Formats: sequence, structure tokens, C-alpha cells
Amino acid sequence: MRSMTTTGRFITFEGGEGAGKTTQVRRLAERLRLLGREVVETREPGGSPGAEAMRHILLKGIAKPLGTEAEAMLFAAARDDHMVTTIRPALARGSWVLCDRFIDSTRVYQGALGNVDPRLIRELEHVVVGTDMPDLTLVLDVPPETGLARVHARGEATNRFEEENLQYHRELRTAYREIAEGEPERCLLIDASQSPEVVAVRIWMAVQERLLRPLREGQAPRAAG
Ligand code: TYD
Repeated sequence: MRSMTTTGRFITFEGGEGAGKTTQVRRLAERLRLLGREVVETREPGGSPGAEAMRHILLKGIAKPLGTEAEAMLFAAARDDHMVTTIRPALARGSWVLCDRFIDSTRVYQGALGNVDPRLIRELEHVVVGTDMPDLTLVLDVPPETGLARVHARGEATNRFEEENLQYHRELRTAYREIAEGEPERCLLIDASQSPEVVAVRIWMAVQERLLRPLREGQAPRAAG
């Protein structure tokens, strides 16, 4: 649990492809900076030099032949470096950390969709993240047809996961919704099919209510694990 006396908070953004996570990370960071908060924007896989080097291996599908269990371990190894190098030091100096994807991506992509044993996933989380769980996880929810259309409209090369079929993306959405329902203290499901402006307002309301107000009133974050 984040100490009541530290002012930094850890927020993760999750969701399927094209949900708009990257845009919302940027918008929330801008809002928090206007309040004078120090903010670190980061992402997974990546967020530290070591983890960024592993990102290439994971997203190009180079590790795919090793199987989903090995991929889960590689994502966890990248996360470990990210925690040690970037996230823990930022939180320790009172900075807010906004991370585009985190443990729920492993639970969903490698666990629910890749059939990796949930006990292995939990053990990796335990070793790598420990008590430094996110204070708030925003799960951006869009129909996969909408999300994939956004990805293709960007015109960028697709990654190994974006190339999976529509059924895969429907199952991703279901798995994310189940996590959000199962952990309402930490997670909040956000309808991300609306405009980026509307989604940003909804997120800002949630951050104020769940994290900023308790901070002002000297309480621990509601979502602290
Ligand atoms: P990225 O290009 O950052 O896509 P997005 O904009 O959708 O976040 O690619 C990240 C990909 O990595 C995404 O398809 C999900 C996948 N991923 C996992 O499978 N497991 C993980 O633990 C993480 C962090 C990401």
C-alpha cells in the first residue's frame, strides 16, 4: 500500500487494441501537471532501457515460437526492470506514475487468451510487483470492431497481437471486463467508444474522486492493495 504521507500515485491504463490508452495517458498527465504534480508517463512492455530492448523481441513475435508461458515470463522480466529502474524510484520521490498497460495485460493476453496457468501469472506478479500494485487501473472498453478500425486508421505496422482475429479481440474484451468486475476497488471500467474529450472528463472525475480528494483529506488511496 502506498503510504499516506507520500503524494505519488500509480495509475495504469488497460484495454484492447485501439481503446485510446496512449491519448488518455497524455491528457491525464497534462491535467495533473497543471495542478503542480510531477508526472512520469511510461508504458509496457518497455519504460526502461532494458525493458525497451525486450519490447522489440515481444512485439515482433520473435518470442512467439517459445510459447505463451515463456512470453509471460519475458513480459515479467521486462516489468521487473521497469519497476526497479523507473516506477519505484518515481513513486518514492512523490511523483505520479501513469503507465500504458501493466499486469492486467499479462493476465489477459498471456493468461486468459494464452492459457497460461493463473498460478504462474500470480506468482510472477508477486515476485515482480509485490505490494507496489496500482492505486487505480482504468480499463478502457471499446467494441473490438471500433478499436481495430482505429488501429488500422493510424496506418502503422501492426504488432503480433493486433494481427489476431476478431474472435480473439472479443475474448480480450470479455477478460478485461471480468477483471474490472472482480476488482472494483482497484479497477474502473470506462466506456471508451465515446470521443477522447468525453473519455478524458470521465477519467478526470474518477481520479479526483478516488485519488486526489482522499489525498487532500489525508486518507490512503481507496484502491491501495
Ligand atoms: P503496443 O504497440 O504498445 O500496443 P497498444 O497501443 O495496444 O498498447 O503493444 C503492446 C502489445 O503487447 C499489446 O498488443 C498487448 C501486448 N502485451 C501483452 O501481451 N502482455 C503484456 O504483459 C503487455 C504489457 C503487453
